[in-house]
Amino acid sequence: MGNYSPFLFLLALSLAAAAAVSAHNITEILAANPDYSSYNSFLSQTKLADEINSRQTITVLVIPNSAFSAITASHPLPVVKNVLSLLILLDYFDNTKLHQLTDGTTLSTTLFQTTGTATGNVGSVNITDLKGGKVAFGSAAPGSKLASTYTKSVKQIPYNISVLEISAPIIAPGVLSAPPPSSSVNLTALIEKAGCKTFASLVLSNGLIKTFQSAADKGLTIFAPSDEAFKARGVPDLSKLTNAEVVSLLQYHAVAKYLPVGSLKTTKDPISTLATNGAGKFEYTVSVAGDSVTLHTGVDSSRVADTVLDSTPLSIYSVDSVLLPPELFAKSPSPAPAPEPASAPSPAPASGPSPASAPSPLPASPPAPAGETPDGAPADAPSTAAERSTSGKSAGVTVKASVILTVTVTALSAFVISSVLMS
Ligand SMILES: *[C@@H]1O[C@H](CO)[C@@H](O)[C@H](O)[C@H]1NC(C)=O
Ligand SMILES: *[C@@H]1O[C@H](CO)[C@@H](O)[C@H](O)[C@H]1NC(C)=O
Ligand SMILES: *[C@@H]1O[C@H](CO)[C@@H](O)[C@H](O)[C@H]1NC(C)=O
Ligand SMILES: *[C@@H]1O[C@H](CO)[C@@H](O)[C@H](O)[C@H]1NC(C)=O
Repeated sequence: MGNYSPFLFLLALSLAAAAAVSAHNITEILAANPDYSSYNSFLSQTKLADEINSRQTITVLVIPNSAFSAITASHPLPVVKNVLSLLILLDYFDNTKLHQLTDGTTLSTTLFQTTGTATGNVGSVNITDLKGGKVAFGSAAPGSKLASTYTKSVKQIPYNISVLEISAPIIAPGVLSAPPPSSSVNLTALIEKAGCKTFASLVLSNGLIKTFQSAADKGLTIFAPSDEAFKARGVPDLSKLTNAEVVSLLQYHAVAKYLPVGSLKTTKDPISTLATNGAGKFEYTVSVAGDSVTLHTGVDSSRVADTVLDSTPLSIYSVDSVLLPPELFAKSPSPAPAPEPASAPSPAPASGPSPASAPSPLPASPPAPAGETPDGAPADAPSTAAERSTSGKSAGVTVKASVILTVTVTALSAFVISSVLMS
């Protein structure tokens, strides 16, 4: 392991670089004005700040404390989140653009539209340039009033983020009705329905469902492996693990924090899990390539496939692979007679771009992200195939995983070094 530590350091660095996709920081932008302190605080509490920071083209319609308090005083956090989501436009509008709308009116999609709760036009906002230079905002749902008006421009980073102040929240039909509390959601039923029956039954039979259910209204994220994931080659035979190990493995798939997609994408530090304890870290890191999020345990990687539920403070995802913690699977279960160190120096063919492109001082950017998520594209990633086939042999898993890690790391360190040289 000692041999790999500089590489692991670089790996951590590269993953941090990959995760740090944000070009702007909404919290910092709004902190400059105390009138927006409440709005700003709720953007953080609902994790919408992460969502904003992880997007490249966005307009934030901000409301001063005086106009926002009516919402925050009388509604629970999920409702406040809905209201805020409707104020985050997935397009770039500045003062000039507001006054140059074709036909003086347009609809813009908002973050609320992406939550899955929105039907029809409920997740869109109508922007209308009224006579006399006044610009009004309202829900795009039929029959809604244009009850909010543009008051001033706050900040622009063209064409990434624009912050505009408006006079009042934009209320769409249904936005103010509170969803059922997370603690009343039937987690088993939800996870089963998402195609993760094996995981659901393991969680039930090992008594973990109670832990999950009681954490659901305090902050909980579950990464449920799909049923296919449990059938994949290389997944350890659970019947050969002790009860305690199975419980740790299951706990490893949950985090005592609310992590919606935007937060996953902006996470830089390793994520601790419910399995984390004094004896073991049981962590993983996150890498991002475009819209694809991948978790890396150090033994294997898993793509985050689908959002099953995002309801503050509970998020549930399905993932493509069972996450294997190094604390349980880094050591070979039966001491391998010959740990095949000889295979280490010849990993070159396993990863296409790495050794050849490594010395190049001016790498084109596309190869690097591909290397960052070796498991992201099952169809064409040679390292994935290599990993799958080798991990079938349980005794060889550790060694082969290290080899693959080295290959990945070589590519990543080349990427890091060349990024440093380029900047
Ligand atoms: C806008 O975002 C892109 C991508 O993150 C970044 O490269 C660019 O520098 C940003 N523009 C400004 C003006 O910050
Ligand atoms: C954004 O700015 C806030 C306040 O300055 C800071 O606490 C936070 O760490 C920053 N977030 C990121 C992702 O840099
Ligand atoms: C926006 O609302 C106004 C007033 O209801 C309406 O006349 C206009 O057609 C709407 N704009 C769009 C693009 O639907
Ligand atoms: C939750 O759903 C599961 C599976 O659909 C069902 O067996 C169980 O009875 C439900 N639990 C509650 C408390 O309704």
